[in-house]
Amino acid sequence: MSAKGWLRVLLAALALLTSACIENAPLDIFKPKGPFSQRANDLFWPVFWVAVVIFVLVEGAIVFMTIVFRDRGGKEAKQIHGNPKLEIVWTVIPALILAGIAVPTFRAVFDLTECGAGAMPVEVIGHQWWFEYRYPEHEITTANELVIPAGREVCASMTSGDVLHNYWIPALNGKRYLVPGQQTVLRLQADEPGYFVGQCAEFCGLSHSLMRARAIALPEEEFNAWVEQQKTPAVEPVEGSPAAAGKEEFLGGQCVQCHNIEGVNEVGVDQFYGPDLTHFAGRTTFAGSKFERTNANLKLWLANPPIEKPGSYMPNLGLTEEQIDRLIAYLETLQ
Ligand code: CUA
Repeated sequence: MSAKGWLRVLLAALALLTSACIENAPLDIFKPKGPFSQRANDLFWPVFWVAVVIFVLVEGAIVFMTIVFRDRGGKEAKQIHGNPKLEIVWTVIPALILAGIAVPTFRAVFDLTECGAGAMPVEVIGHQWWFEYRYPEHEITTANELVIPAGREVCASMTSGDVLHNYWIPALNGKRYLVPGQQTVLRLQADEPGYFVGQCAEFCGLSHSLMRARAIALPEEEFNAWVEQQKTPAVEPVEGSPAAAGKEEFLGGQCVQCHNIEGVNEVGVDQFYGPDLTHFAGRTTFAGSKFERTNANLKLWLANPPIEKPGSYMPNLGLTEEQIDRLIAYLETLQ
């Protein structure tokens, strides 16, 4: 490689290295906000320091030996074959270190995926490319944003509707796979109210990087109010309003084939379906949390979903600007 080539490689490596130093990194694994992510963090640091000590000792020994025993021109080193004592020592010591690390690791792995009694159950279903959440205790369904009560354990039982996905909200716990036809369990808890960012962590197709997860932890009372709100059927728009025209548009177009609005239409859940829109305007993001829920973003999305999210199962419906405006007027009433 030319000097210029090496310079480029060096710059790229530097950029990668310094990117680890940014302050506001939403997927930072070192800022646990609940007991389960804390547990993973408590395991990480001791193992990390053990690895650092071994690295320094091994690399130090290599550097020391290459300097001290370097070729001194024609002088041949003493030829030996094997040293059983030394070989036993350097096999036993690493084995003991690994065993020492394995005990707390196995304990943590099982503890982090077996829910405690009294945890609030939530079903997490992965779809290309969004997360669906069902709350069996409350009989409600939502998408993209997992709303949870702060200070209470949530027991996520997870699966996938299509391909392999991976649920990951680093502030609340480590990653876990969502496997079609199987159920995996992940404990989640936020100690304080807050907004937590996550990401699908398994390559699952074209828009994998746009399959984002969000968790919103609310104080118990606010959470209960949210649940009550979610239980109500969709808001009925005022007659003659733009929202009423939007509802007609929704019912008359292709939206109804995939999207459910409670009390307005019903889409069978065995067939392919998109996010439930009953309380769409109660969410801060949409389209797998790729977008903040703003008028401009909704326009962009409805005009051509596969451009915004490559491979999107929501097709370009060829909507006119007027149709899009009416649909947005309706969607925005769905609190
Ligand atoms: Cu779902 Cu990557």
